[in-house]
Amino acid sequence: MTQKVVVTGGLGFIGSHVVVELQNEGFEVVIIDNLSNSSIEVLKGITAITGKQPLFEKLDLREKESVIDFFKRHHDIIGVIHFAASKAVGESVNLPLLYYENNLSTLIYILQELQKKEAANFIFSSSCTVYGQADTLPITESAPIKEAESPYGNTKQIGEEIIRDTCKVTETLNAIALRYFNPIGAHESAKIGELPIGTPQNLVPFITQTGIGLREQLSVFGNDYPTVDGTCIRDYIHVVDLAKAHVAALKRLIDGNNADNYEVFNIGTGKGSSVLEVINAFEEVSNQKLNYKIVDRRAGDVVAAYADTSKANNILCWKAKLNLKDALASAWKWQQRIA
Ligand code: WQD
Repeated sequence: MTQKVVVTGGLGFIGSHVVVELQNEGFEVVIIDNLSNSSIEVLKGITAITGKQPLFEKLDLREKESVIDFFKRHHDIIGVIHFAASKAVGESVNLPLLYYENNLSTLIYILQELQKKEAANFIFSSSCTVYGQADTLPITESAPIKEAESPYGNTKQIGEEIIRDTCKVTETLNAIALRYFNPIGAHESAKIGELPIGTPQNLVPFITQTGIGLREQLSVFGNDYPTVDGTCIRDYIHVVDLAKAHVAALKRLIDGNNADNYEVFNIGTGKGSSVLEVINAFEEVSNQKLNYKIVDRRAGDVVAAYADTSKANNILCWKAKLNLKDALASAWKWQQRIA
């Protein structure tokens, strides 16, 4: 019998790539999205890739009654992968209550419905931002959780605690939190990818928009950090590798092999790259020079963050297969297509 999975925020950047990988693995997918930061066109892209149109419901998960009604109608689901959230770090500083309401009330309403089920599997989209500037690199899951630099980051920390505490008293609920490092790139078909609305906050979409001429120049936020070339280091993971990690996590929950009903995994490549290394790699894959300048540091940036992925490698039997150039080449192909 086909296993039915709900993907909230399933028309978003990471969510849409996860839907593709779930369908490739034979799961039936129901997407919930309120289209506040995504486009219905993404549904066509997913369908064009897999040949199967996922079920889709436009819902605002802040409406508790809508959530209750949804889970009554879809009582046969075996799991939820939860992406729906606001995710702009800078915006969250100015609109904390919007972030706490949207990111936490929606999580609570979903968990309340899963608590009612005889068995439920839940995967939470978390972030390496919970570590802040880690004391030791690469970062393991046992690294201390630092005080969040933003309300956005705080909603990920609080979200993990809500799930952990719920799992403690709900043995029928199996959950995994995946702490993403820096997701970049796009599906090889260039039918889905990152669609930043307005000025991109993240490095790679700003690079590709500069490369295609939508942006005049990339500003590199500081080159006076204590790193190989003075620019910050991050663990850039191909979004398709990240998507496959979600399927591996879901299979672990379904198989019931998890000793603890709440587990956390770092999902990255395990390799750090500086901003200038990313720029150089982009210039190679695009075969063109990138127009950039060095400017002042950006508030809140950590110097370096890259993952120790041994826990995910050993327990999820998952490892990133694609490298920085693969990811940048796919991001560039996607940018050229949507231009
Ligand atoms: C990467 C590096 C910048 C833009 C954020 C969130 C994190 C997660 C991923 C949601 C940094 C530099 C960037 C630019 C630059 N999001 N940069 N010029 O900050 O590591 O992580 O996105 O979960 O929670 O914090 O990613 O892509 O913004 O920055 O020099 O125009 O690129 O200073 O060193 P970040 P990023």
